[in-house]
Amino acid sequence: MEKILFTLNGHPHEALVEPHWTLLEYLRDREELTGTKEGCGQGECGACTVLIDGQAVNACLFPILEAEGTSVITIEGLARPDGTLHPLQEAFIQFGAVQCGFCTPGMILSAKALLDENPHPTEDDIRKALAGNFCRCTGYTQIIQAVQSLSGYEKKEVEYMPRET
Ligand code: FES
Ligand code: FES
Repeated sequence: MEKILFTLNGHPHEALVEPHWTLLEYLRDREELTGTKEGCGQGECGACTVLIDGQAVNACLFPILEAEGTSVITIEGLARPDGTLHPLQEAFIQFGAVQCGFCTPGMILSAKALLDENPHPTEDDIRKALAGNFCRCTGYTQIIQAVQSLSGYEKKEVEYMPRET
């Protein structure tokens, strides 16, 4: 096992890891952060998307050792401590952009990466940003509408659920 340090959902985090683990394995199997989904396991579906230093990344392909020194945000890190959902989570509910929900954490984190960088995305920008996230249920229209509804969204420091590290 090796020890690495990184920030997980806003908290300094020390992790004991096997060098061959992926970030997805670590998050789900060791931290029980099961909001990050495992779909294809091959970088094709986007179900495992997390944010690393603000960028949307497929955790299934990301070696855990490379998390050293980064800031990792999972879907569990978006709601406020009082349970108030992030505006993207609210918008997905409001627009009916969630059906089975399997793709939703990854979709929301990819959308967050986009909006944090480009608060006024066009439909084309949104489609490109979400191109790596597959949804089998919704037909995408409601997802695009949900993200578009937040045009002008102001980037705010995300408040994180308090967790033991
Ligand atoms: Fe990572 Fe499909 S599980 S991209
Ligand atoms: Fe079911 Fe997207 S809501 S895969």
